[in-house]
Amino acid sequence: MESFTKSVNFFGNTNPDELLKEYGSPLYVYNESVLRDRMTKMTKVVTKYPFTANFSVKANTNPSILKMALECGMNADAMSPGEILTLEKAGFPREKIFFVPNNVSAEELQFAIDRNIITSLDSLSQLELFGKLNKGGRCAVRLNPGVGAGHHEKVVTAGKNTKFGIAEGDIDQIFEVASKYDLHIVGINQHVGSLYMTAEPFLKATKALLGFAEKFTELEFIDFGGGFGIPYHKLADEQAFDVEACREQLEAIIDEYAKGHDKTPLFKSEPGRFVCAEGGVLLGQVYSKKHNAEKAYVGTDIGMNVLVRPSMYDSWHDIEVYRNGDVVSPLTSEKETVSVTGNICESGDLICKERELPVIEEGDVICVLDAGAYGYSMCSNYNSRLRPAEVMVMADGSTKLIRRRDTYEDLLGRF
Ligand code: LLP
Repeated sequence: MESFTKSVNFFGNTNPDELLKEYGSPLYVYNESVLRDRMTKMTKVVTKYPFTANFSVKANTNPSILKMALECGMNADAMSPGEILTLEKAGFPREKIFFVPNNVSAEELQFAIDRNIITSLDSLSQLELFGKLNKGGRCAVRLNPGVGAGHHEKVVTAGKNTKFGIAEGDIDQIFEVASKYDLHIVGINQHVGSLYMTAEPFLKATKALLGFAEKFTELEFIDFGGGFGIPYHKLADEQAFDVEACREQLEAIIDEYAKGHDKTPLFKSEPGRFVCAEGGVLLGQVYSKKHNAEKAYVGTDIGMNVLVRPSMYDSWHDIEVYRNGDVVSPLTSEKETVSVTGNICESGDLICKERELPVIEEGDVICVLDAGAYGYSMCSNYNSRLRPAEVMVMADGSTKLIRRRDTYEDLLGRF
């Protein structure tokens, strides 16, 4: 593909140059139509049975995007009180929020209990703590289905090498703790990990989870978790995750489970990346070019504080080069192998390493694709840099500022 942003008219009535002039560089830019398309797709992972898709807020916390998810029929899952507050700000009613924390304090559990937000406990000790705080209460438990998946070992969240979930061998103890505190276990959930491009590991885990479900007598919902992948190599024509094929296989697995039950519980999933990654790009400015020991570097203002995924997981993000408001075609232009770096004081501060790209010039704009998930939400002020603004290109082609850039006041105001 020559250009993803061109193919979907990502920038509407404007272009990267104008956007950076108006909102500053670097800049996160989202596209409403792409976001709504992916949100709608995720609400249809199961159609044959009652189902809701919970948007996993950790992927993107912008209230304008969360509001869109709500409008598209999504519920949401939150990992912390801060995420719960953000969801409330975006207009989510409490019954549409699922709290899925990990290793939290009594105060944080109480925060959700006071709001009547259903919570999933991720260990026997957290279940015990919840029981002490909320005798007779309703809750869910997160189980480890024994099968994990993900694009990097750091994001595999089930199986043998992870801190997450209650292991199969401990399930019976869940009932001991529950009966001690009169708890009603109304939900079970899993999350195998983040980013699989074929559904196999997810389906295998789901089969295991539905097997565990037979032990629970009060289930109102079963949550299969998130992790649905997106094509990060789209310029090389990588195919999207096949939601329809996944639905067919998933519903066949649910059919088996449903045979033994008069009424099925509500099924849920927790997609984050799929919903918002492709609907966001990151723009930055090229300020320098140089060679060091024969290697070519392009220096930009997209530091690892702005997008940490390449530094943290060696993640691949496709890059488009814009010049004078238009994309430089990777198909017809001269190429050069370069590392695109940021302005942070670390050698690992890279957007890509030794990649063949159209020859880049000072003054060009770098457009990093698929930055809408785990982009801004993982931003930091490292090196005392300001976090960028976020802008939405609306369906009618106009643009709207949806989060302002940090100011030096923000940076210094807490001291
Ligand atoms: N549910 C739970 C319990 C999770 O822990 C996660 C992600 C999700 C749902 C959503 O997963 P998704 O559909 O977005 O793959 N920072 C990493 C990803 C970490 C994901 C952590 N948990 C990255 O940038 O690749």
